Amino acid sequence: MNKKKSKNPFSSKKLIGTLGVTRKLFGLLWQWEPSIVIQSFITYSIPAILPFINAYIYKLIIDLVIASVGSGLVDYKQLAIYLIFRFISLLALDVSYTFQDIIDKKLWIRFPAKFYTMILSKISSLELEYFEDPEFRNKLQNLRESYITRPINTISFVFYLWQSFLQFCIAIAALSLLNWWILFPILLTAVPIFLTRKSHSEFAWGIWNGNSPYRKKFWYLSELIQGGEGIKEIKIFQLSKKFIGELHSMYERFLKENEVVLKKYLISNNLLNVFSNIVYGGIEIFIIYLAILKTITIGSISYYTSVMNNLQNGVSGMLRNAARLYENAMYIVDMFEVLESPSKIIVPESPTKIDYLSAPKIEFKNVTFSYPKASKASLEDFSMVIEPGEKIAIVGENGAGKTTLIKLLARLYDVSSGEILINGVNVRELDLDRWHAALGILLQDFIKYEYSIKDNIYFGNTEFKEDIEKIKEAAKNSGADSVASNYKDGYDQMLGKTFENSVELSAGQWQKVALGRAFFRNSPILILDEPTASVDAKAEAEIFEHVERLAKNKTVIIISHRFSTVKNADKIFVINEGKIIEAGAHKELIKKKGTYATLFNLQAKAYK
Ligand SMILES: Nc1ncnc2c1ncn2[C@@H]1O[C@H](COP(=O)(O)OP(=O)(O)O)[C@@H](O)[C@H]1O
Ligand SMILES: [Mg+2]
Repeated sequence: MNKKKSKNPFSSKKLIGTLGVTRKLFGLLWQWEPSIVIQSFITYSIPAILPFINAYIYKLIIDLVIASVGSGLVDYKQLAIYLIFRFISLLALDVSYTFQDIIDKKLWIRFPAKFYTMILSKISSLELEYFEDPEFRNKLQNLRESYITRPINTISFVFYLWQSFLQFCIAIAALSLLNWWILFPILLTAVPIFLTRKSHSEFAWGIWNGNSPYRKKFWYLSELIQGGEGIKEIKIFQLSKKFIGELHSMYERFLKENEVVLKKYLISNNLLNVFSNIVYGGIEIFIIYLAILKTITIGSISYYTSVMNNLQNGVSGMLRNAARLYENAMYIVDMFEVLESPSKIIVPESPTKIDYLSAPKIEFKNVTFSYPKASKASLEDFSMVIEPGEKIAIVGENGAGKTTLIKLLARLYDVSSGEILINGVNVRELDLDRWHAALGILLQDFIKYEYSIKDNIYFGNTEFKEDIEKIKEAAKNSGADSVASNYKDGYDQMLGKTFENSVELSAGQWQKVALGRAFFRNSPILILDEPTASVDAKAEAEIFEHVERLAKNKTVIIISHRFSTVKNADKIFVINEGKIIEAGAHKELIKKKGTYATLFNLQAKAYK
C-alpha cells in the first residue's frame, strides 16, 4: 500500500491537503500567540520593502551626481539629504533583521513546546485499539521523528514565503511602471521552476513515507542494539553482527533511492537556471537600451538592476519557500490525522456516574469479540456472572482469551456483540474514569516505572501519594517490603537502568512492586493477570494468602495458566479458544474429571 502511495505523489488533493494543514497550524499559532503572528508579519515585511526604497534613493544620488558633473554646480544640501535617508534606510534594514531574528527565536521556543504537549495529550487519550494497529503505529513513528521541527519550520516558511511574495509584488509593480510587457517572460520562467521544485519535494517525501515500515525497523534495531533489555541475549546469541548488517542494508537502500532523486533534481534545476538567466539577462539589456535611448536616466539603470535583483530573489525565494512549505506540510498531514483521530470508545454525553464503594456484580452476557482486522473471534458467546466479593479464577492456556477478557471489562475495547453489565448497567453507559477507579489491575505486561519504590506503589492511587503508612502496608502485602529492605534508601531507592543511583530488580521483584501498586489502589475489584508468573512458589503462596485476607469484601479475579495455584477460588472458569469449557469450585471440577482435573493433576505433579 505504501508503495502505491509513493509512486503516485502528484495529486492536487495532496496540495489542498497541505494547504489545509498549514491553515490549521496557523490557526493554532494564532490562538496561542497572536502577538507573535502580528510581529512576525511586520518584521518579515520590512526587509521586502526597504531594498526598493534604498535602491531608489541611490538612483536619485546617481542622477544628482551626473547632473552636477554636467552643469558644474553641486547641490550639496540635496545630496546630504539623500545620503542621510540612505543611511537611515540601510540601518533600518539591519535593525529589522535583528528583530526578525528575535521574534523567530521566541517562536521557536514557544510553539514547539505547546504543540508537543498538545500532541502528547491527544496520543494519551487515544484508545488501545490505535496502539495495537500497525498502520497507526507507522503514523506515530512518522510523527515521533518530526513533531518538534516540522510544524515550526512550516510556520517559518510561511513567513519567508510572505516576505518573498511581497518582494516579488513590489518588483513587479516597479517594472510594470516601466513597461508592463516585461511581466510576460518573467512569469513564464516561474512556472517550470515551480513544477520541478514541487515534484522534487514530493519524491523526497514519497521515499521517506514509503520507507516508514523500514524506518520503524531501523529504530527498533538501533534500540535493540543499544538498549539494556536484550543485551544479554544478543551477546550470547551473537546477534549484533546480523542486526548491524540489516541496519546497514536498509540504510544503503534509502541512500540509493535518494541518490536518484538528487540526480534528477540537479539536472532539471540547472536547465532551469540557464533558462531563467537568459530571460533576466534579456531584460537587463532592454533596460540599458532604454537608457541609451534616454527614455530613462543612468540612475535608473542602477535602480532597475536592483529591482531585477529583488525580483529574482523574490521569485526564487517564493519557489524555495513554497516548496519547503509544501514538503514540510506533507509530513504534518500525518500529525493532524493523529490529532483528529476519532474516539473508538464512545461514552454517552451524560454517562451513568457511579462511584463503586463496594464491589458490584459483574456479568458477561453472550459476549463475542474479535480484534479489528482479526479473522477469528478471541471470545465467543462468553457468559459468566461474578457476584460481589467473589474470588474467581480464570484459567486457560496461552492465547485462550484471558487478557482479552480484562481488556473488555475495563472497556479498552468494545464487545462485538453481547453485553457486559455492572450491577445491571451496561459498561458502555458508564463514566469511564469512575469505572476505572473501581479497578485495581496488575497487568501481565505491567510497567516498570523508573521511579523510586515508593513512587511505583503510590502510582496506584496518586491521591494518597503522601500516605507512607498505606504505601508500606501495600508493600508488605505484596512482598515489595522485602525488596525495599535490601537497600539503604529503602522505599526511596530509585529503580531501573536510566537514572543515576538506580538499581535494576529481578523480574519477580518487579512483580512484587507492581502488585503493591495494585493493592495500594484499594479498589473494590482487584484483577491479577498472571500475577505470580515470575515469582517463586513460596512467594506465590504468600501472595495468595495476602490476597485472600486483604480482599475480604472485594471481588478478585485471578488469571493464571497454572491450575495448581487457583484451587482456593470460589469459582474457577476454565477457558479455551475464547469459550468457557468448565466452571465451578475446585472440588466440583475435580469430581467432574474433565479438562480441569486432568490439567490440575498434570501440573500438580510437575510442581512437586
Ligand atoms: N491486539 C490484538 N490484535 C489481534 N489479536 C490479538 C490481540 N491481542 C490478542 N490477540 C489474540 O487474541 C487471542 C487471545 O489473546 P489473549 O487474551 O492475550 O490470551 P491469553 O489467554 O494468553 O491472555 C489470541 O489468539 C491472540 O493472538
Ligand atoms: Mg494473557
